[in-house]
Amino acid sequence: MLGISAMIEGVYRIVKKREIKPSIKDDCSYPHEKSMSIIVKRYILLENYQTNSYLVWNKSDKTALAIDPAAKPNKLFSEINKMGLKLKYIVNTHGHADHIGANRKMQELTDAEICIHPEDKELLFHPEKNLSTFIAVEINSPPPGLLLHDGDKISFGNDELKIIHTPGHSKGSICLYGEGDNILFSGDTLFFEGLGRTDLPGSNQTDLLQSINGKLFKLPEKTKVYPGHGGFTSIKHEKQYNPVTLF
Ligand SMILES: [Fe+2]
Repeated sequence: MLGISAMIEGVYRIVKKREIKPSIKDDCSYPHEKSMSIIVKRYILLENYQTNSYLVWNKSDKTALAIDPAAKPNKLFSEINKMGLKLKYIVNTHGHADHIGANRKMQELTDAEICIHPEDKELLFHPEKNLSTFIAVEINSPPPGLLLHDGDKISFGNDELKIIHTPGHSKGSICLYGEGDNILFSGDTLFFEGLGRTDLPGSNQTDLLQSINGKLFKLPEKTKVYPGHGGFTSIKHEKQYNPVTLF
């Protein structure tokens, strides 16, 4: 017979499953989007892990980045073609399997350059280190063509995103900040009312708290946040409601 807590957990899972409707069409529609020079579209391609993959492109010349292509490269590639984008970079916010799964095929299809922070470079080639051995599918990626360091800027068309090194979830975790458009891709560092796991090899809770409090929470409050999993948020909201404020 099920205990009361197991029953509640079961009901919670059913409700949660109903709430989540992954879709290739799922996109980001902030009210200020029309004023942005960058277009952002979100795709949930790895349903079991609910990883957010993003296509980000410059409105004027359609040069694009793929951020964390998790799976289903052919679907992503057909979206790129459908919208007439030119994929320049494949950017991994960190080297975990659920963020790099489509790197190899996407590069074959588009010849785009793979980019990652040097501290997570090794994860690309080691299924144990990128944790893919735990999901019974060994994932490895081609080597990066570009290493991203704190303060670097990645340019596409007239736009650029600044790299913020945010160690904690992994040693080489990064966020990408678009100052002009007030947007942040936060990977697995900062989520809607949550923060990245720190019980994994290479994780460090002190570093994660410092990355969020000392770096991300210093950004303008109006910054919109596109995380690696879950719903969108803002720096203002997280400064008010994120549990990191309790530490
Ligand atoms: Fe991760």
